[in-house]
Amino acid sequence: MQKAKVILDKEFVISQIDKRIYGSFIEHLGRAIYTGIYEPDHPSADEMGFRKDVIELVKALKVPIIRYPGGNFVSGYNWEDGIGPREQRPRRLELAWRSIESNEVGINEFIEWSKKVNSEVMMAINLGTRGIDSARNLVEYCNFHGGTYYSDLRKKHGYNEPHKIKVWNLGNEMDGEWQIGHKLAHEYGRLAREVAKVMKQIDPNIELVVCGSSGPKMPTFPEWERIVLEHTYDVVDYISLHYYANMPGSDFINLPKDPDLKSFIAKNLDMEEFIKTVISTIDYVKAVKRMKKDINISFDEWNVWYHSFEKDKNIEPWQVAPPILEEDYIFADALLVGCMIMTLLRHADRIKIACLAQLINVLAPITTVKGGIAYRQTIYYPFLHIANYGRGVVLLPKVNSPKYDSKLYTDVPILDTLVTYDEEENSISLFAVNRDTENDLLVEYQFRGFDGYKVIEQIVYESSDPYVGNTPEDPNRVVPHKIDTSKIDGNILEVLFPKFSWNVVRLKKFMG
Ligand code: AHR
Repeated sequence: MQKAKVILDKEFVISQIDKRIYGSFIEHLGRAIYTGIYEPDHPSADEMGFRKDVIELVKALKVPIIRYPGGNFVSGYNWEDGIGPREQRPRRLELAWRSIESNEVGINEFIEWSKKVNSEVMMAINLGTRGIDSARNLVEYCNFHGGTYYSDLRKKHGYNEPHKIKVWNLGNEMDGEWQIGHKLAHEYGRLAREVAKVMKQIDPNIELVVCGSSGPKMPTFPEWERIVLEHTYDVVDYISLHYYANMPGSDFINLPKDPDLKSFIAKNLDMEEFIKTVISTIDYVKAVKRMKKDINISFDEWNVWYHSFEKDKNIEPWQVAPPILEEDYIFADALLVGCMIMTLLRHADRIKIACLAQLINVLAPITTVKGGIAYRQTIYYPFLHIANYGRGVVLLPKVNSPKYDSKLYTDVPILDTLVTYDEEENSISLFAVNRDTENDLLVEYQFRGFDGYKVIEQIVYESSDPYVGNTPEDPNRVVPHKIDTSKIDGNILEVLFPKFSWNVVRLKKFMG
C-alpha cells in the first residue's frame, strides 16, 4: 500500500479565501446565453425567459461572481445594442465566433439573471474596436446614480438604482492575434491606463483588472505582463491570467486514444508555474516602480478544453446560438479540474478572483438540451464540493507523498491535496486527488493545534472507466458517493483514497 503524510498547523495559514475565487464566466458565445440560461419557450422558463432548472444548478455551485459578456466576444461588442426595448435591438454579425448575435439579452437582463443565482457581475469592456468613450459611457450607465444622459437612460429602461458593478475587465486577451483589435503590449498598456483613469473618475469604488497573457505559451509572455504593468501599475488592482489545460498543440494528450493519464492528471503543474512567474513579474514591476501596493491576480478563465475542437470545425458560420465549444467532459477531466482549483487556492494570498470558464454549455459544468433537461457534467462535482466547503482560510500543508515520472513530467506527487479551515464554523475540509491510476493511497493527516474534531462526511468521486462522462440519456452515469475509509485518533486522521479519485473529507468540532 502506498502511503503519504500531511502535516498541518492551525497557525500556518496561506491566506483567507476570497470567495470570488469560486467565480465563473458566461460569454455571448454558442449556447451559453440563448438556450443556455435564456429560453423563453422552455417549460421551466420564468417570467423573464430564464430557465429555472439552470438557475437551480447554478445556485447549488454558490458562484459569487460571473464575468460577462466575454471573452473574445467583448472585443467587437457594442453594449448599447443590448439595452432598451427588445424589438428595437439590432441583430449583428458577431465576428469573434462567426455567429449572429440577436441582442435579446443584454447587460440589464444579465444582471437580473445574476441576482437570481445569487451572484454579482464582473463586467468586461471592449478595448478591441472601442476605447475610452464607450467605457466611460458604460460605467455612467451602470454605476452613476442619475441626472446625466446615460444614468437617466438606465432609469428609463426600468433600473432606477445603479447596478453598482464593482469589478471590471479592461478588455480581453489583448495579447492574442485572434483578438479583434489585438494590440502590442505598449499599445494596450497605454490605452488601458487612460481608460482606467476615466472609469475610476466616474466611480472611484470600482476595481480594475488589466489583461495579462492568454496563457503561458504566448510568445510575448511574460514580457507582456512587465510592459503592461509598467504602464498601469498605479491605476489597476488585478492582472488577469487565462489557462486552459490540454488544448491541442504541443503537449496535447488526446484522451482516450493516447491514454497517458499520468501526464494528463499532472497538467496543473504547468498552471502552478504560470502563476509563480506572473507573481514574480508583478513584484518585479512593483520594485522597479517603488510602489507600496500589491497587484493581485484575477485568474478569470481556467478549465480543461480539448473535446470540442474537432467537431467545431464542421459548424456552419452565421447561426444564432450554434453549439460551439460544447465539451462532453469525461471523468478524468473532473480530476484535473479538481487539481486545478486546488492550485488556485494554494495561491489564495494573491489570487482573489478566478472564473471557471465557462458556466453553461460552453466549456461548461452544466449542459442544457434545448427544450429538454439540464444536467451536470463531470467537472461540476469537484467545483461544487470546493466552492461549498472550501471556506475560511487555506492552511499551508507539509506534504510528503510518493512521486512518479510520466512522459511529460518528473517527480509528480501522487497526492494532490488542499485543506481549508473555517474558524467560525469550527470546521475543516480536506480535498485530495489520488493521481495513481492503479493503486489506492493511504494518507495520514496530522492536525497540529486542532483537538476534538470528528469526521462528519466523506465523499469520493471515482469511476471504473476514466473515459466516460454524463450524457443527456444518462445524466447521472458518473456521480460522487459517500464512503467511510477514515479513522481519527486524537488529531491524526488516517484516510484511504481510492485509485484515481477526487476526495472530500469534512471534519467538525462540536462545542459544548
Ligand atoms: O472561453 C472561450 C474563449 O477562450 C474566450 O472567449 C477567450 O477569452 C478565450 O480564448
